[in-house]
Amino acid sequence: MIAAWDGSETASPARRFSLEREVDNRTMQNNLAKVARNRPSRGRSAAHPAPSNSNLKLVSDEAAAPDHRRILAYLAAEKPATPCLVVDLDIVATKYHGLRQALPAAEIFYAVKANPAPEVLARLAALGSSFDTASAGEIRQVLATGADPKRISFGNTIKKTSDIAFAHEVGVDLFAFDSEAELRKIAAAAPGARVFCRILVEGKGALWPLNKKFGCAPEMAADLLVLAPTLGLVPYGVSFHVGSQQLDPTQWAGAIAEAKRIFDRTASHGVALKMVDLGGGFPATYGPGIPAVAGYGAAIARALEESFGDRQPEVIVEPGRYMVGDAGVLETEVVLVSRKSYDDDRRWVYLDIGRFGGLAEAEGEAIRYRIRPVSQSAAAEAPVVLAGPTCDSADILYDKAGYALPADLACGDRLRIFSTGAYTTTYSAVNFNGFAPLRAIYI
Ligand SMILES: Cc1ncc(COP(=O)(O)O)c(C=O)c1O
Repeated sequence: MIAAWDGSETASPARRFSLEREVDNRTMQNNLAKVARNRPSRGRSAAHPAPSNSNLKLVSDEAAAPDHRRILAYLAAEKPATPCLVVDLDIVATKYHGLRQALPAAEIFYAVKANPAPEVLARLAALGSSFDTASAGEIRQVLATGADPKRISFGNTIKKTSDIAFAHEVGVDLFAFDSEAELRKIAAAAPGARVFCRILVEGKGALWPLNKKFGCAPEMAADLLVLAPTLGLVPYGVSFHVGSQQLDPTQWAGAIAEAKRIFDRTASHGVALKMVDLGGGFPATYGPGIPAVAGYGAAIARALEESFGDRQPEVIVEPGRYMVGDAGVLETEVVLVSRKSYDDDRRWVYLDIGRFGGLAEAEGEAIRYRIRPVSQSAAAEAPVVLAGPTCDSADILYDKAGYALPADLACGDRLRIFSTGAYTTTYSAVNFNGFAPLRAIYI
């Protein structure tokens, strides 16, 4: 299998990690380069080279392998019907504390979209987290935990006026925009609100780039922030997102410098901004070679110091994938193992979960989860194509990524897909081909 931390499940996570790291770093590097090569739809070019983590050792230690022992014990004891995601809320709490330590000056706004389960929201609310929301629905979900609306940001730059009005009515006071039309909608539906403008950033090194659809050019951002008070709004700051699963902690520096230039430009028009929103992008540990969160904290603190010196802004972060990704393990059943011809050297392994059942981020083979059989096998591993169970030919998970599974894998065997706590439950279709949405259990 790919990028596998393949020690015995009884070995300590740290031990497994060091065993596996020796063999898998090169594999991971190759895989990351392949990810970029295999994703023409995301528009990589000479200007957007393949992400590489070759420089990461310079800035950070590697993140330790996630400790999934509690989940594995639960799965072994309960043997839930598959497909089933089990999420360990203690891991969420550990991640929260890790980020707090890495970036003590930043207020954490958990990106609810990554996993909006009430259990996750309640745990984070109890820890003191604030929340970044994408819709009126997510705002309702956060309010249902009892969280103060002042701890909610409406971070989507594309909002219906009626949803802005709803947010304003319930007490949300912080809104994102990246266009004049959106700014005017906010002015009409949420008079007096604080607004921040999202800027376009390049975000090299992200496995799930977000550099096209959201944000505007910095000059436009400055102009709109200067316009905001004339519309009765409070111009509050600048936001960006350097791309999800961002493997290069130095990517924040350029965007922070850009934010400072916007601060200076608006100040020259008498508009003093207060806040920089560093977005998400902090990674889940899908395999070895991922920098530790402390490395991100150090690189960001350095960049803030270089750009803002002794006039530091308020800083917020919006982690999604980092906060919940490693907290989940998904158990799935092999529905079919087959070959396409007598001389086919790869088996097709069809699972009871696929791209429509929650693994949407396998699109372009961008996010490559670690996948292991539940039962140890003495058989050698052999190459596989992994696919989901639906009658849709797009429902192929991994074809080019080079996954391998034991040669004796059979129908009915179970596999575990690791670090699947983020962007899975909410991506699963409601009833596509008659399959039920992904079930999740929170422990
Ligand atoms: C506005 C905003 N903030 C935060 C996030 C979370 O990003 P990540 O999961 O990479 O931390 C996203 C993801 O799409 C986003 O759109």
